[in-house]
Amino acid sequence: MMLTPTNLRTEYLTEPIGIDAPAPCLFWTCEGGTTQSAYQLVARRDGEAIWDTGKVESHAMTGIRWEGPALRSRDLVEWSVRLWDEDGVSGEWRSARFEQGLLQATDWKATWITGDYRPRRREHHPVDHFRRAFTCGKVSTARLYITACGLYQAKLNGRRVGDFIMAPGFTSYQQRLHYQTYDIGALLQPGENTLEVEVADGWFRGSIGAMGVRNVYGEETKLLAQLEIFAPDGAADTVLTDGAWVWSNDGPIRFADMKDGEIVDLSRTATLNGRARETTYPVVPSAANNVAVREQERFTPISSRTPSGRQLLDFGQNLAGYVELTVQAHAGDRIRLQFAEHLNADGELDMRAIQVRAGKNDATPKQEIILSLVEGINTYKTTFAVFGFRYAVVVSEIELDPADVTAIAVYSDMKPTARFDCSNQLVNRFVENTLWSMKGNFLDVPTDCPTRERAPWTGDVQIFTRTGTYLMDTAAFLRKWLVDLRDRQGADGKVPCHAPDVRNNEFIPGIDFIRRMDGCVGWADSAVLVPVRLYELYRDDRFLRDAYASMKAHVQFQIGRTNRTGMFGRRFPKPDRKYISNMGQAFGEWLEPRDVYQQSVVTDFLAPHPEEATAYLAYVCGLMVDVAKLLGQDEDVVLFEEYHRGCTLAYVNQFTPIDTNRQSKLVRPLALGLLDGQLAKDTLDRLVGAIEERDYRIGTGFLSTPLILPLLTQMGRTDVAYRMLENEEAPGWLHEVLAGATTVWEDWEGEASQNHYSPGSVCQWLFETVCGIDVTGVNAFTIAPQPGGTMTHANLSYDSVFGTVSSSWVTDGDTIRYEFRVPANTTAEIRLPAGTVGTVSAGAWCFEENRQPRPTTPRQLRQATGVRKDDAV
Ligand code: BGC
Repeated sequence: MMLTPTNLRTEYLTEPIGIDAPAPCLFWTCEGGTTQSAYQLVARRDGEAIWDTGKVESHAMTGIRWEGPALRSRDLVEWSVRLWDEDGVSGEWRSARFEQGLLQATDWKATWITGDYRPRRREHHPVDHFRRAFTCGKVSTARLYITACGLYQAKLNGRRVGDFIMAPGFTSYQQRLHYQTYDIGALLQPGENTLEVEVADGWFRGSIGAMGVRNVYGEETKLLAQLEIFAPDGAADTVLTDGAWVWSNDGPIRFADMKDGEIVDLSRTATLNGRARETTYPVVPSAANNVAVREQERFTPISSRTPSGRQLLDFGQNLAGYVELTVQAHAGDRIRLQFAEHLNADGELDMRAIQVRAGKNDATPKQEIILSLVEGINTYKTTFAVFGFRYAVVVSEIELDPADVTAIAVYSDMKPTARFDCSNQLVNRFVENTLWSMKGNFLDVPTDCPTRERAPWTGDVQIFTRTGTYLMDTAAFLRKWLVDLRDRQGADGKVPCHAPDVRNNEFIPGIDFIRRMDGCVGWADSAVLVPVRLYELYRDDRFLRDAYASMKAHVQFQIGRTNRTGMFGRRFPKPDRKYISNMGQAFGEWLEPRDVYQQSVVTDFLAPHPEEATAYLAYVCGLMVDVAKLLGQDEDVVLFEEYHRGCTLAYVNQFTPIDTNRQSKLVRPLALGLLDGQLAKDTLDRLVGAIEERDYRIGTGFLSTPLILPLLTQMGRTDVAYRMLENEEAPGWLHEVLAGATTVWEDWEGEASQNHYSPGSVCQWLFETVCGIDVTGVNAFTIAPQPGGTMTHANLSYDSVFGTVSSSWVTDGDTIRYEFRVPANTTAEIRLPAGTVGTVSAGAWCFEENRQPRPTTPRQLRQATGVRKDDAV
């Protein structure tokens, strides 16, 4: 077989239209050979070659920088690539396309429009309908560029435009507003056409954050749309939002709020008897260069009755999304559905764990749909709300036929990239639960949970980035989120707890208590840790380059918190004081099991956390030394090195030896590399003793949960890590599964949100240790599985940016048989428990090892089983 490029992507996206990337990076993976010795790229615009690299001797297949002429707005480029293999034989061409969006502010000719009413802060306003009729002739291409302050959904001639849900997505709207580009050629018809757009409150004006604060980004929702039609002869025509559009807000959706839900009167049709009002918005829309939010899996419920006699629909999976239903009714019938993740001990819907009640405000989120029905068949699908739920209770005289109700999961359309399976079914379900918590919380921004707060907490992302990036291709999504983070970073470098802002904790209107926690250790550190984790798995130094100024500003801000004493802080002696971070409020480890540590308002919200903060500052400065060297920022290295060394030493002087059995306190300095020699050994012994004393039950909170098992492995105690992972008693990962969880719980007790991905970050250890896969460089992996625990087999197949790499093992009596697949044009260093085998090239490999370690002999699968290596790649 010839070496062929596959999976062609532009800026991590498959055939994107409407991107903002005048010099995009191109990506492919290889199949059908061993090594790519050269490539040739040809790019065409309007059929004319505008860039031809000729034959480039290179192994590179990712991050190939555009070196053709600078691209312009609307440029549609087709790029083709062919490869030469290790023998210098060239293969077939493969092609892909991308299209630029509107790159200049002057490309926008449309005028912002809004509904013809005066918005009132306290009132909820129904959904706006805007419509424009127009005629068109023969169409060659047509694009709709569209965005809203609020959420929009567009229909052309009655048919839905695109499939982006909750468009235009969430950004810090004061600085950045994304638009979408749709190919609408197939929806247009010669003659009369109508474009109709509904606009709802969304993140812009609707309730957001734990308290459901409204009007955070503005009081006036608005729409901007620009339809560009090109005839076969090249003649251009446009349809633009302006005061000529008709408007009304008397359509079916009387109320729409992303958290609270919808009130819909199916007997209504928008009259459109008013006019849109022209308005302005100071932000020029930009392209997100991100994946769309789409409808995904669908679930049909099982119907039963709650003890109080209501119809209960159980969809079997906790998810974030909405419902679609059909029901036969009489005019005037009403139906109310309320959604929740959990049932209480009595078997009734439990809203307590997901609702917050603040002051005079109602409990939020309401998570309900109220429908007024018409005579005959009614159909309904939620348009402008998303709920976190597994169950729905139906409050109505009418009984729903469960076959006519569907729950639809909604999340950003990232490609799933990991397939994991092992002999412990509870572990498999936990991995699946983690993926479901990711799906439930990656809706254009990463959130803590899809219910109570739905807030883009910076710490949660930091904790989960590595696991999440194995599970799904997060490159475009998290690149977009890092821009959100930078949009919110202070001029002093301070990184907030949320990005974008959701005014999360305004118990008293106007006072956001969480703002005082901005810069918090472990949360603000996402400014450094997210780009570093993305770089580790994608090996694209643009993640670091784009973030470098923000990373450095964050570290400088944190350095500014050393050598000082904050409110309720204890004083540290000189000279260590200089390097102890002892200012600002912080959450500390956060949510350790309650039998390990009870949080207190003073020590855990108001006081600084010098132990955690100094440890992270030392660690992050160490990472920054490497980042600065990699990016050639040599002048910064001295400062980072000073604080890396200084903080490490001060930590050791002030916080060790560690005399506690709290796992987090022992894990942190070891995992962050602050201890060595005898001190490290003694701390590990204490940790292992503490774990044994707890019968292998987990004792860490948010920050140390992803660290504990990798640390045990790194220090040679993989046996202990397996026992912790496979422990079935509470608190523990598998205990949640045994208790019936279908997503990951926020707290180990299962009393808070049921859908928080961060404790699922333990999956990283399954992928990197149990199956042993790691990306160690451009086109390079290590595969170093460590069988153990009760497991008799495990396998992982990971669609990395360099191709699909897989590792599986199975025990057979005293023998362990390993099978690995190394993708074309990459190499993998194979390490087995008995020792390092060496570096292998692309292909399928198998090894056998006696459980009593003895030297291993590599042989290729071809020799062992007769499968040709070429077929196996
Ligand atoms: C959120 C967390 C978040 C935390 C901050 C919680 O209420 O749900 O996920 O990181 O607050 O400590």
